[in-house]
Amino acid sequence: MIRNQVLKLAQHCVRMLGAEQAHDLSISALCAGLHPIAKEPDDPRLAVRLLGQKFPNPIGIAAGFDKNAQVYNAMHQMGFGFAEAGTVTPLAQIGNAKPRAFRLPKHRAIINRYGFNNEGMDAFQQCLKDAPAQGILGINVGANKLTKDKAADYAACIEKLAQYAAYITINISSPNTPGLRGLQVGAALDDLLARVVEARDKAARIRVEGNEMPKPLLLKIAPDVSEDHLDAIVKSVLDHRIEGMIVSNTTFDRQSVVGSSNAKQAGGLSGAPLFDRSTIILAKTRERAGRAFPLIGVGGISSGEQAVQKLEAGANLIQLYTGFVYNGFELLADVKKELIAAMDKEGFSRVSVLTSSNVQEWASKPFPTLPV
Ligand SMILES: Cc1cc2nc3c(=O)[nH]c(=O)nc-3n(C[C@H](O)[C@H](O)[C@H](O)COP(=O)(O)O)c2cc1C
Repeated sequence: MIRNQVLKLAQHCVRMLGAEQAHDLSISALCAGLHPIAKEPDDPRLAVRLLGQKFPNPIGIAAGFDKNAQVYNAMHQMGFGFAEAGTVTPLAQIGNAKPRAFRLPKHRAIINRYGFNNEGMDAFQQCLKDAPAQGILGINVGANKLTKDKAADYAACIEKLAQYAAYITINISSPNTPGLRGLQVGAALDDLLARVVEARDKAARIRVEGNEMPKPLLLKIAPDVSEDHLDAIVKSVLDHRIEGMIVSNTTFDRQSVVGSSNAKQAGGLSGAPLFDRSTIILAKTRERAGRAFPLIGVGGISSGEQAVQKLEAGANLIQLYTGFVYNGFELLADVKKELIAAMDKEGFSRVSVLTSSNVQEWASKPFPTLPV
Protein backbone atom coordinates (compact mmCIF):
# COMPACT_ATOMS: atom_id res chain seq x y z
CA MET A 1 0.00 0.00 0.00
CA ILE A 2 2.64 2.54 1.13
CA ARG A 3 4.90 1.27 -1.65
CA ASN A 4 2.17 2.01 -4.21
CA GLN A 5 1.65 5.54 -2.83
CA VAL A 6 5.39 6.24 -3.01
CA LEU A 7 5.43 4.93 -6.57
CA LYS A 8 2.46 7.19 -7.47
CA LEU A 9 4.31 10.21 -6.08
CA ALA A 10 7.46 9.23 -8.01
CA GLN A 11 5.34 8.90 -11.15
CA HIS A 12 4.01 12.43 -10.61
CA CYS A 13 7.54 13.84 -10.16
CA VAL A 14 8.79 12.07 -13.29
CA ARG A 15 6.11 13.86 -15.33
CA MET A 16 7.70 17.21 -14.39
CA LEU A 17 10.86 16.32 -16.37
CA GLY A 18 11.31 16.60 -20.14
CA ALA A 19 9.68 13.71 -22.04
CA GLU A 20 12.90 11.85 -22.88
CA GLN A 21 14.50 12.41 -19.45
CA ALA A 22 11.31 11.15 -17.82
CA HIS A 23 11.36 8.07 -20.01
CA ASP A 24 15.03 7.35 -19.23
CA LEU A 25 14.36 7.74 -15.52
CA SER A 26 11.35 5.41 -15.72
CA ILE A 27 13.50 2.76 -17.43
CA SER A 28 16.14 3.10 -14.68
CA ALA A 29 13.44 2.78 -11.99
CA LEU A 30 11.98 -0.30 -13.69
CA CYS A 31 15.48 -1.83 -14.00
CA ALA A 32 15.92 -1.25 -10.25
CA GLY A 33 12.65 -3.08 -9.53
CA LEU A 34 10.80 0.10 -8.49
CA HIS A 35 7.41 -0.80 -9.90
CA PRO A 36 4.17 -2.32 -8.67
CA ILE A 37 3.85 -6.09 -8.86
CA ALA A 38 0.54 -7.70 -9.82
CA LYS A 39 -0.40 -9.81 -6.80
CA GLU A 40 -3.38 -11.69 -8.14
CA PRO A 41 -3.27 -13.92 -11.18
CA ASP A 42 -5.49 -12.61 -14.00
CA ASP A 43 -9.15 -13.58 -14.19
CA PRO A 44 -9.06 -16.66 -16.47
CA ARG A 45 -11.71 -15.02 -18.69
CA LEU A 46 -9.07 -12.48 -19.79
CA ALA A 47 -6.88 -15.16 -21.38
CA VAL A 48 -6.53 -15.11 -25.18
CA ARG A 49 -5.18 -17.90 -27.38
CA LEU A 50 -3.43 -16.43 -30.42
CA LEU A 51 -0.24 -16.89 -32.45
CA GLY A 52 0.38 -20.24 -30.78
CA GLN A 53 0.45 -18.66 -27.30
CA LYS A 54 -1.87 -18.34 -24.34
CA PHE A 55 -1.83 -14.66 -23.37
CA PRO A 56 -2.86 -14.26 -19.70
CA ASN A 57 -4.65 -11.04 -20.67
CA PRO A 58 -4.90 -9.13 -23.97
CA ILE A 59 -3.01 -5.98 -22.89
CA GLY A 60 0.58 -5.42 -24.00
CA ILE A 61 3.11 -2.63 -23.73
CA ALA A 62 3.75 -1.25 -27.24
CA ALA A 63 7.12 -1.03 -28.99
CA GLY A 64 9.35 1.96 -28.31
CA PHE A 65 8.97 1.87 -24.53
CA ASP A 66 11.62 -0.82 -24.01
CA LYS A 67 13.82 -0.10 -27.02
CA ASN A 68 16.86 -1.97 -25.67
CA ALA A 69 15.17 -4.99 -24.06
CA GLN A 70 15.88 -3.90 -20.48
CA VAL A 71 12.50 -4.01 -18.76
CA TYR A 72 10.23 -6.60 -20.45
CA ASN A 73 10.20 -8.78 -17.33
CA ALA A 74 9.25 -5.77 -15.18
CA MET A 75 6.29 -5.19 -17.54
CA HIS A 76 5.25 -8.84 -17.16
CA GLN A 77 5.51 -8.54 -13.36
CA MET A 78 3.32 -5.42 -13.41
CA GLY A 79 0.59 -7.45 -15.07
CA PHE A 80 0.91 -6.80 -18.79
CA GLY A 81 -0.17 -9.85 -20.79
CA PHE A 82 2.77 -9.38 -23.14
CA ALA A 83 5.60 -6.97 -23.87
CA GLU A 84 7.04 -5.86 -27.20
CA ALA A 85 10.69 -4.79 -27.05
CA GLY A 86 12.47 -2.73 -29.75
CA THR A 87 12.59 -1.30 -32.32
CA VAL A 88 16.04 -2.85 -32.62
CA THR A 89 18.29 -2.39 -35.66
CA PRO A 90 21.41 -4.40 -36.63
CA LEU A 91 23.85 -1.63 -35.66
CA ALA A 92 23.64 0.68 -32.68
CA GLN A 93 22.61 4.21 -33.66
CA ILE A 94 22.12 7.43 -31.74
CA GLY A 95 18.94 8.58 -33.48
CA ASN A 96 17.96 12.17 -34.17
CA ALA A 97 19.23 15.26 -32.35
CA LYS A 98 17.66 16.09 -28.97
CA PRO A 99 15.09 17.28 -28.03
CA ARG A 100 13.12 14.67 -29.97
CA ALA A 101 10.11 13.86 -27.78
CA PHE A 102 7.46 16.41 -26.84
CA ARG A 103 4.37 16.23 -24.65
CA LEU A 104 1.09 17.85 -25.65
CA PRO A 105 -0.56 17.58 -22.22
CA LYS A 106 -3.81 19.33 -23.14
CA HIS A 107 -4.39 16.66 -25.76
CA ARG A 108 -2.82 13.81 -23.78
CA ALA A 109 -0.51 13.23 -26.71
CA ILE A 110 3.19 12.93 -27.54
CA ILE A 111 5.13 13.81 -30.69
CA ASN A 112 8.37 11.87 -31.10
CA ARG A 113 11.10 11.78 -33.69
CA TYR A 114 13.57 9.52 -31.94
CA GLY A 115 14.72 7.88 -35.18
CA PHE A 116 15.37 4.34 -33.86
CA ASN A 117 17.96 5.23 -31.21
CA ASN A 118 19.06 1.85 -29.87
CA GLU A 119 22.09 -0.16 -28.80
CA GLY A 120 21.92 -2.57 -31.76
CA MET A 121 21.05 -6.26 -32.07
CA ASP A 122 24.17 -7.70 -30.38
CA ALA A 123 23.54 -5.79 -27.14
CA PHE A 124 19.82 -6.62 -27.42
CA GLN A 125 20.65 -10.33 -27.74
CA GLN A 126 22.90 -10.15 -24.67
CA CYS A 127 20.01 -8.74 -22.61
CA LEU A 128 17.77 -11.59 -23.78
CA LYS A 129 20.42 -14.15 -22.82
CA ASP A 130 21.03 -12.52 -19.42
CA ALA A 131 17.33 -12.25 -18.52
CA PRO A 132 15.21 -14.86 -20.27
CA ALA A 133 11.64 -13.63 -20.75
CA GLN A 134 9.29 -14.71 -17.97
CA GLY A 135 6.22 -13.86 -20.04
CA ILE A 136 5.24 -13.44 -23.68
CA LEU A 137 7.77 -11.30 -25.52
CA GLY A 138 7.45 -9.80 -28.99
CA ILE A 139 10.54 -8.35 -30.68
CA ASN A 140 10.10 -5.36 -32.99
CA VAL A 141 12.77 -5.05 -35.71
CA GLY A 142 13.77 -2.20 -38.02
CA ALA A 143 16.47 -0.92 -40.34
CA ASN A 144 19.44 1.38 -39.75
CA LYS A 145 19.13 4.89 -41.17
CA LEU A 146 22.10 4.56 -43.53
CA THR A 147 21.38 1.04 -44.85
CA LYS A 148 20.44 1.05 -48.55
CA ASP A 149 19.06 -2.50 -48.70
CA LYS A 150 16.63 -2.08 -45.80
CA ALA A 151 15.15 -5.60 -46.17
CA ALA A 152 18.60 -7.05 -45.37
CA ASP A 153 18.53 -5.33 -41.97
CA TYR A 154 15.15 -6.84 -41.06
CA ALA A 155 16.41 -10.27 -42.12
CA ALA A 156 19.59 -9.90 -40.04
CA CYS A 157 17.64 -9.00 -36.88
CA ILE A 158 15.22 -11.89 -37.41
CA GLU A 159 18.00 -14.44 -37.89
CA LYS A 160 19.70 -13.32 -34.70
CA LEU A 161 16.73 -12.65 -32.42
CA ALA A 162 13.74 -14.78 -33.49
CA GLN A 163 14.78 -17.62 -31.19
CA TYR A 164 14.04 -15.44 -28.13
CA ALA A 165 10.65 -14.13 -29.29
CA ALA A 166 7.07 -15.37 -29.22
CA TYR A 167 6.52 -13.21 -32.32
CA ILE A 168 8.48 -10.75 -34.45
CA THR A 169 7.13 -7.38 -35.58
CA ILE A 170 8.28 -5.93 -38.88
CA ASN A 171 8.13 -2.20 -38.26
CA ILE A 172 7.90 -0.33 -41.55
CA SER A 173 5.72 2.44 -40.21
CA SER A 174 8.00 4.62 -38.11
CA PRO A 175 7.80 8.13 -39.55
CA ASN A 176 11.30 9.02 -38.34
CA THR A 177 13.59 6.94 -40.56
CA PRO A 178 13.82 8.35 -44.09
CA GLY A 179 12.42 5.92 -46.69
CA LEU A 180 10.98 3.46 -44.15
CA ARG A 181 7.29 4.05 -44.86
CA GLY A 182 8.18 3.56 -48.57
CA LEU A 183 8.55 -0.13 -47.72
CA GLN A 184 4.76 -0.24 -47.20
CA VAL A 185 4.23 0.14 -50.96
CA GLY A 186 4.04 -2.21 -53.96
CA ALA A 187 7.10 -4.13 -55.08
CA ALA A 188 9.17 -2.92 -52.11
CA LEU A 189 6.66 -4.50 -49.72
CA ASP A 190 6.55 -7.77 -51.67
CA ASP A 191 10.34 -7.99 -51.72
CA LEU A 192 10.55 -7.21 -47.99
CA LEU A 193 7.90 -9.76 -47.01
CA ALA A 194 9.49 -12.49 -49.14
CA ARG A 195 12.87 -11.86 -47.48
CA VAL A 196 11.60 -11.70 -43.89
CA VAL A 197 9.70 -14.95 -44.39
CA GLU A 198 12.89 -16.57 -45.74
CA ALA A 199 14.88 -15.31 -42.72
CA ARG A 200 12.17 -16.46 -40.32
CA ASP A 201 12.07 -19.92 -41.90
CA LYS A 202 15.77 -20.37 -41.04
CA ALA A 203 15.11 -19.43 -37.40
CA ALA A 204 13.91 -21.57 -34.51
CA ARG A 205 10.28 -22.75 -34.56
CA ILE A 206 7.74 -22.86 -31.74
CA ARG A 207 5.94 -25.97 -30.54
CA VAL A 208 2.18 -25.68 -30.26
CA GLU A 209 0.16 -28.63 -28.98
CA GLY A 210 2.79 -31.06 -30.15
CA ASN A 211 3.20 -29.45 -33.62
CA GLU A 212 6.07 -27.29 -34.75
CA MET A 213 5.15 -23.95 -36.30
CA PRO A 214 7.28 -21.07 -37.55
CA LYS A 215 7.74 -17.99 -35.37
CA PRO A 216 4.83 -15.67 -36.22
CA LEU A 217 5.61 -12.48 -38.14
CA LEU A 218 3.45 -9.37 -37.68
CA LEU A 219 3.51 -6.31 -39.93
CA LYS A 220 3.08 -2.97 -38.13
CA ILE A 221 1.51 -0.31 -40.31
CA ALA A 222 0.93 3.44 -40.21
CA PRO A 223 -2.54 4.92 -39.71
CA ASP A 224 -1.85 7.28 -42.63
CA VAL A 225 -2.88 4.93 -45.45
CA SER A 226 -5.37 5.45 -48.26
CA GLU A 227 -7.99 2.89 -49.25
CA ASP A 228 -5.99 1.60 -52.24
CA HIS A 229 -2.90 1.45 -50.12
CA LEU A 230 -4.55 -0.58 -47.35
CA ASP A 231 -6.08 -2.93 -49.96
CA ALA A 232 -2.61 -3.55 -51.39
CA ILE A 233 -0.94 -4.03 -47.98
CA VAL A 234 -3.48 -6.59 -46.77
CA LYS A 235 -3.32 -8.45 -50.08
CA SER A 236 0.51 -8.71 -49.86
CA VAL A 237 0.33 -9.77 -46.21
CA LEU A 238 -2.13 -12.56 -47.02
CA ASP A 239 -0.24 -13.59 -50.20
CA HIS A 240 2.98 -14.00 -48.20
CA ARG A 241 1.17 -15.71 -45.30
CA ILE A 242 2.34 -13.19 -42.73
CA GLU A 243 0.66 -14.31 -39.50
CA GLY A 244 -0.74 -10.99 -38.29
CA MET A 245 -0.69 -7.19 -38.30
CA ILE A 246 -0.35 -4.40 -35.76
CA VAL A 247 -2.49 -1.33 -36.39
CA SER A 248 -1.12 1.27 -35.87
CA ASN A 249 2.02 3.31 -35.44
CA THR A 250 1.98 7.11 -34.92
CA THR A 251 0.48 9.64 -37.37
CA PHE A 252 1.73 12.68 -39.27
CA ASP A 253 -1.74 14.19 -38.93
CA ARG A 254 -1.98 17.31 -36.72
CA GLN A 255 -5.59 18.40 -37.33
CA SER A 256 -6.75 17.42 -33.87
CA VAL A 257 -3.94 19.19 -32.00
CA VAL A 258 -3.91 22.56 -33.76
CA GLY A 259 -3.15 25.28 -31.25
CA SER A 260 -1.06 23.10 -28.94
CA SER A 261 2.38 24.63 -28.34
CA ASN A 262 4.23 21.57 -29.64
CA ALA A 263 1.82 20.74 -32.49
CA LYS A 264 4.27 21.91 -35.15
CA GLN A 265 7.12 19.64 -34.00
CA ALA A 266 8.14 17.14 -36.68
CA GLY A 267 7.59 13.45 -35.94
CA GLY A 268 4.84 10.97 -35.17
CA LEU A 269 1.84 11.90 -33.03
CA SER A 270 0.53 9.35 -30.51
CA GLY A 271 -2.03 9.35 -27.72
CA ALA A 272 -5.67 10.41 -27.43
CA PRO A 273 -5.88 12.27 -30.79
CA LEU A 274 -4.79 9.07 -32.59
CA PHE A 275 -7.61 6.91 -31.23
CA ASP A 276 -10.26 7.43 -33.92
CA ARG A 277 -7.86 7.32 -36.87
CA SER A 278 -6.09 4.16 -35.73
CA THR A 279 -9.36 2.44 -34.76
CA ILE A 280 -10.96 3.16 -38.15
CA ILE A 281 -7.91 1.73 -39.95
CA LEU A 282 -7.98 -1.28 -37.60
CA ALA A 283 -11.63 -2.03 -38.43
CA LYS A 284 -10.98 -1.58 -42.15
CA THR A 285 -8.03 -3.98 -41.85
CA ARG A 286 -10.27 -6.50 -40.07
CA GLU A 287 -12.83 -6.24 -42.91
CA ARG A 288 -10.15 -6.96 -45.49
CA ALA A 289 -8.19 -9.64 -43.64
CA GLY A 290 -11.13 -11.73 -42.42
CA ARG A 291 -12.41 -12.74 -38.98
CA ALA A 292 -9.70 -15.28 -38.11
CA PHE A 293 -6.67 -13.10 -38.89
CA PRO A 294 -4.61 -12.06 -35.81
CA LEU A 295 -4.69 -8.27 -35.27
CA ILE A 296 -3.16 -6.18 -32.50
CA GLY A 297 -4.87 -2.80 -32.01
CA VAL A 298 -2.80 0.12 -30.73
CA GLY A 299 -3.26 3.87 -30.83
CA GLY A 300 -4.72 6.33 -28.37
CA ILE A 301 -6.10 3.96 -25.72
CA SER A 302 -6.46 6.13 -22.60
CA SER A 303 -9.25 4.37 -20.71
CA GLY A 304 -10.87 1.01 -20.11
CA GLU A 305 -13.81 1.99 -22.36
CA GLN A 306 -11.45 2.69 -25.25
CA ALA A 307 -9.75 -0.66 -24.72
CA VAL A 308 -13.16 -2.33 -25.08
CA GLN A 309 -13.85 -0.28 -28.22
CA LYS A 310 -10.51 -1.32 -29.74
CA LEU A 311 -11.35 -5.00 -29.25
CA GLU A 312 -14.86 -4.51 -30.61
CA ALA A 313 -13.42 -2.76 -33.68
CA GLY A 314 -11.41 -5.87 -34.54
CA ALA A 315 -8.41 -6.29 -32.23
CA ASN A 316 -7.55 -9.69 -30.72
CA LEU A 317 -4.97 -8.02 -28.47
CA ILE A 318 -4.27 -4.38 -27.63
CA GLN A 319 -1.20 -2.37 -26.72
CA LEU A 320 -0.69 0.77 -24.63
CA TYR A 321 1.99 3.43 -24.76
CA THR A 322 1.05 7.13 -24.49
CA GLY A 323 -1.99 6.45 -22.29
CA PHE A 324 0.33 4.56 -19.95
CA VAL A 325 2.72 7.55 -19.87
CA TYR A 326 -0.10 9.96 -18.88
CA ASN A 327 -2.20 7.70 -16.64
CA GLY A 328 0.53 5.54 -15.14
CA PHE A 329 0.16 1.96 -14.06
CA GLU A 330 -3.45 2.52 -12.91
CA LEU A 331 -4.45 2.40 -16.58
CA LEU A 332 -3.57 -1.29 -16.75
CA ALA A 333 -5.83 -2.11 -13.79
CA ASP A 334 -8.62 0.10 -15.19
CA VAL A 335 -8.48 -1.67 -18.55
CA LYS A 336 -8.69 -5.12 -16.92
CA LYS A 337 -11.60 -3.97 -14.75
CA GLU A 338 -13.47 -2.55 -17.75
CA LEU A 339 -12.92 -5.66 -19.86
CA ILE A 340 -14.38 -7.79 -17.07
CA ALA A 341 -17.34 -5.37 -16.67
CA ALA A 342 -17.99 -5.53 -20.44
CA MET A 343 -17.97 -9.35 -20.32
CA ASP A 344 -20.28 -9.39 -17.27
CA LYS A 345 -22.70 -6.99 -18.97
CA GLU A 346 -23.02 -9.20 -22.05
CA GLY A 347 -22.71 -12.50 -20.19
CA PHE A 348 -19.54 -13.41 -22.12
CA SER A 349 -17.25 -16.08 -20.68
CA ARG A 350 -14.13 -15.08 -22.66
CA VAL A 351 -12.68 -11.69 -23.57
CA SER A 352 -12.15 -12.87 -27.15
CA VAL A 353 -15.92 -12.75 -27.69
CA LEU A 354 -15.63 -8.95 -27.62
CA THR A 355 -13.25 -9.05 -30.59
CA SER A 356 -14.84 -7.77 -33.80
CA SER A 357 -18.30 -7.42 -32.27
CA ASN A 358 -18.58 -3.86 -33.65
CA VAL A 359 -16.37 -3.79 -36.75
CA GLN A 360 -19.13 -2.39 -38.94
CA GLU A 361 -19.57 0.86 -36.99
CA TRP A 362 -15.87 1.73 -37.27
CA ALA A 363 -15.24 0.32 -40.74
CA SER A 364 -18.14 2.28 -42.23
CA LYS A 365 -16.51 5.60 -41.34
CA PRO A 366 -14.64 7.27 -44.22
CA PHE A 367 -10.87 6.83 -44.47
CA PRO A 368 -9.35 9.63 -42.37
CA THR A 369 -8.01 12.44 -44.54
CA LEU A 370 -4.33 12.04 -45.28
CA PRO A 371 -1.85 14.39 -43.64
CA VAL A 372 -0.01 16.66 -46.09
C1 LIG B 1 8.10 7.93 -27.57
C2 LIG B 1 7.61 6.85 -28.51
C3 LIG B 1 8.51 6.01 -29.12
C4 LIG B 1 8.06 5.01 -29.98
N1 LIG B 1 8.96 4.16 -30.57
C5 LIG B 1 8.51 3.15 -31.35
C6 LIG B 1 9.40 2.20 -31.89
O1 LIG B 1 10.61 2.22 -31.64
N2 LIG B 1 8.89 1.21 -32.70
C7 LIG B 1 7.54 1.11 -32.98
O2 LIG B 1 7.13 0.20 -33.69
N3 LIG B 1 6.67 2.00 -32.45
C8 LIG B 1 7.11 3.00 -31.65
N4 LIG B 1 6.22 3.88 -31.11
C9 LIG B 1 4.78 3.76 -31.46
C10 LIG B 1 3.99 2.99 -30.41
O3 LIG B 1 4.44 1.65 -30.32
C11 LIG B 1 2.49 3.00 -30.77
O4 LIG B 1 2.30 2.31 -31.98
C12 LIG B 1 1.94 4.42 -30.93
O5 LIG B 1 2.52 5.29 -29.99
C13 LIG B 1 0.43 4.47 -30.78
O6 LIG B 1 0.01 4.05 -29.51
P1 LIG B 1 -0.33 5.09 -28.31
O7 LIG B 1 -1.24 6.15 -28.87
O8 LIG B 1 -0.97 4.24 -27.26
O9 LIG B 1 0.96 5.67 -27.89
C14 LIG B 1 6.66 4.88 -30.25
C15 LIG B 1 5.76 5.74 -29.62
C16 LIG B 1 6.21 6.73 -28.75
C17 LIG B 1 5.20 7.63 -28.08
